[in-house]
Amino acid sequence: MSKHIVILAGDGIGPEIMAEATKVLAKVNQQFKLDLTWSNELLGGCAIDATGVPLPDQTLEAARKADAILLGAVGGPKWDTIERSIRPERGLLKIRSELKLFANLRPAILYPQLASASSLKPEIVAGLDILIVRELTGGIYFGQPRGIRTLENGERQGFNTDVYSESEIRRIAHVAFQLAMQRNKKVLSVDKANVLEVTELWKEIATEVGKEYPEVQLSHMYVDNCAMQLVRAPKQFDVIFTGNLFGDILSDEAAMLTGSIGMLPSASLDENKKGMYEPCHGSAPDIAGKGIANPLATILSVAMMLRYTFKQDAAANAIELAVGKVLDQGLRTVDIWTDGTQKVGTVAMGEAVVAAI
Ligand code: IPM
Ligand code: MG
Repeated sequence: MSKHIVILAGDGIGPEIMAEATKVLAKVNQQFKLDLTWSNELLGGCAIDATGVPLPDQTLEAARKADAILLGAVGGPKWDTIERSIRPERGLLKIRSELKLFANLRPAILYPQLASASSLKPEIVAGLDILIVRELTGGIYFGQPRGIRTLENGERQGFNTDVYSESEIRRIAHVAFQLAMQRNKKVLSVDKANVLEVTELWKEIATEVGKEYPEVQLSHMYVDNCAMQLVRAPKQFDVIFTGNLFGDILSDEAAMLTGSIGMLPSASLDENKKGMYEPCHGSAPDIAGKGIANPLATILSVAMMLRYTFKQDAAANAIELAVGKVLDQGLRTVDIWTDGTQKVGTVAMGEAVVAAI
């Protein structure tokens, strides 16, 4: 029976990179006889323009029914000043939350061909393979109360609430430990337990769950130290397991170690491994429409989708190998370009990957 994917290209560079990812999807669909179908829906600023809200009911319904979701990016300056509750990013947060996509996997893998594109010395990043497991539907991103209020003295005050229940921590901890079992069996739980109670509990539950995985070596680190260690000696890490906000920040940092955030895919999974797949980078409004955005993070997100949701390892491997091949050919979008390589645009990069499959 055919499986269906809902595509949400979104805003900014979203439609450009998604056009290339869709070509790659079409190629593997045909070559590996995957019997996948797909259709497009609106999310983010484009949805606001068309319907007045960032996550229209039609999109949410289609996403619920779909077997997987592929997302480009949302947001842009055009919508930064509209009422906060209907900004593009709220649409993204709502779809994550409505679909209970609590497990966000962000692999930071250095393609050896890109060692010189990293801002760190090649010997520090060579062979880098980190997996960040970020809790995605809780913490300060969703905690209530939140808002901007006016105090009695007339001064405005912004406030948010960082909150995690034991069960929320436990279920994401299991994901992290299970993934570590398939890797190098090391989990680093990241917290700020020296200051924040919410992460004191995080650390406690991580330790408790860790006892169920005696083969996995669990360690703990404060988030500030982790941020430093990531640029000092990133190869010490295997699985980094953390909450929503710390995961957001550390994954951007880890991405840069691999040369460019334009290379980093992600998977956001629910309890049953149904998932939404998206590049970790944003909508990059500054380069939108110029045809220079790197489509590889979205293309690699297609590979993650095939592997995690559709269990099509051969097709996923074929995409990842093809990305390696185009890098071997010396093709580079501007974000990963270095002297001696060939600068190409979004379309040329996408088509080179298709040709290499
Ligand atoms: C990400 C992004 C989002 C987040 C934004 C666009 C809301 O930065 O996926 O990392 O903060 O989660
Ligand atoms: Mg982010």
